Amino acid sequence: MTGGTSGLGKVAAQQIAETPGMRILLGARSASQFAVKTLPLDLTSLASVCVFAQGVIQELGDELIAGLVLNAGTQFPNINQRTEDGFETTFAVNYLAHYLLLQLLLPKLAQGATVVITTSDTHDPDKNPMAPKKLDPELLAYPQGQGGSTGFSAGFRAYAASKLCDLLMARGLAGSNEAKEKGLTVVAYNPGLTVGTSLFRAWPLWARLAMGTVGLIRPMARLATVEQAGQNLADLALGRITPPTGRLYASLVKRQLTWPDPSELARQDVAMNGLWSDSARMVRSFLSGASSC
Ligand SMILES: NC(=O)c1ccc[n+]([C@@H]2O[C@H](COP(=O)([O-])OP(=O)(O)OC[C@H]3O[C@@H](n4cnc5c(N)ncnc54)[C@H](OP(=O)(O)O)[C@@H]3O)[C@@H](O)[C@H]2O)c1
Repeated sequence: MTGGTSGLGKVAAQQIAETPGMRILLGARSASQFAVKTLPLDLTSLASVCVFAQGVIQELGDELIAGLVLNAGTQFPNINQRTEDGFETTFAVNYLAHYLLLQLLLPKLAQGATVVITTSDTHDPDKNPMAPKKLDPELLAYPQGQGGSTGFSAGFRAYAASKLCDLLMARGLAGSNEAKEKGLTVVAYNPGLTVGTSLFRAWPLWARLAMGTVGLIRPMARLATVEQAGQNLADLALGRITPPTGRLYASLVKRQLTWPDPSELARQDVAMNGLWSDSARMVRSFLSGASSC
């Protein structure tokens, strides 16, 4: 699991760890605050993803993975951050590093395993006016010279676009031969706006104050608490909740898990195939220079 050290992922990781017979392995930048095996993982570095995947495979020995939870995420008030590999950081952490991790761990997934990828309803223009209406992975990875804002709204657009990529990653995996052969259950999980996690830590004060106000009206708006959002993630990862036939997008709305259609763009095969081939190319160009992965 990634993203198990904070926010809703921490709640889910704890629930999974406490489940009898279940062993959880976290990939994280820092040690977990509860007793659970953690291997170093910094998603701003594809080399770190490689080392982490090798560590997981070594740790597993002959065992296989019953559930893979790709939950880590980040959000910035601009698009000025770059990873050590030169990618825009929101795109790289939320999506591309997870794409590589998925490829590296796919052979170790057990028959009937579950893969949960945390997305967001901010990907959907019907819910968020700043959501992407078209997808250009190259521009998301290297957002230079496209004009327009590079400030807060650009940061939020980059976040929404990265979450669209997460959804398309889930769809691409679900439709893959590997998923069919292994009978994988694939879920793209939207916890919905969840106030009280660390996701907004890099936001400017005015935006954090606005979010604090949303927190005050949470009971009236029936927004999920961090615990409820984490509990649903754990239930999906553990297979306690399974998708209805033909559904993949699990969205927590007013504290109820629903299975709606994702955005129109998220349903387009041409967007999905384009993203998968661009991602493979981006990762390949990194791998060609990597000493081992
Ligand atoms: N909160 C919301 O309103 C909301 C709504 C929709 C979707 N989501 C999604 O839910 C997921 C969890 O978010 P959250 O709200 O619980 O936020 P959070 O408290 O900030 O948790 C984010 C997790 O991702 C990890 N992470 C971030 N950058 C990383 C990196 N470079 N390398 C490795 N791990 C990294 C964090 O690790 P550290 O402890 O090291 O920082 C933390 O465990 C994210 O995918 C987010 O996009 C959240």
